[in-house]
Amino acid sequence: MPPTARARRVAAFALTWLLIATSSTAALADGDPANGAKIFQQCSACHSSEDGVNMVGPSLHCVVGRPAGSIAGFDYSPAIQEAAQKNLAWTEANIIGYLQDPHKFLGNFDQDPGARNKMPFNLVDPQQRQDVVAYLKGQCTGGH
Ligand code: HEC
Repeated sequence: MPPTARARRVAAFALTWLLIATSSTAALADGDPANGAKIFQQCSACHSSEDGVNMVGPSLHCVVGRPAGSIAGFDYSPAIQEAAQKNLAWTEANIIGYLQDPHKFLGNFDQDPGARNKMPFNLVDPQQRQDVVAYLKGQCTGGH
């Protein structure tokens, strides 16, 4: 094979591996907001992402970074109220932990395993949790 063709093959091979490596790191580091928008359809049975719109659950507008239990006028459960007193903030990691099992997450955080919470929903799949958080984060970047 002429040297240039060989060099091209080597370069193509290296590029393929580079793409595989970067795409798998990206999947671990960040969620996919487009997929998160689809996951959010499950949340929207109870939540709106619009500011000031509370349904069965509180508005999730700009929830990433928000203190827990901070929507005025929403009737939070004792578990969330206790967590709010202990300064729980909805960081990405905390939302991801909460979505896996709200009851257990708040029970651990509050150090009160019996604390009653009101969100009867969980997302087991870790990628789906990352994706929905990426979506929620994206909802808040424009204008805020
Ligand atoms: C069946 C209804 C229901 C579904 C579905 C649901 N939630 Fe909730 N969610 C609630 C309720 C009710 C609360 C208030 C919890 C409490 O007071 O214990 C809540 C609270 C929350 C909070 C805390 C908000 C705050 O102001 O402290 C977050 C974050 C949250 N939900 C995210 C989600 C996400 C993301 C999804 C979808 C993956 C989802 N929820 C699906 C009912 C639901």
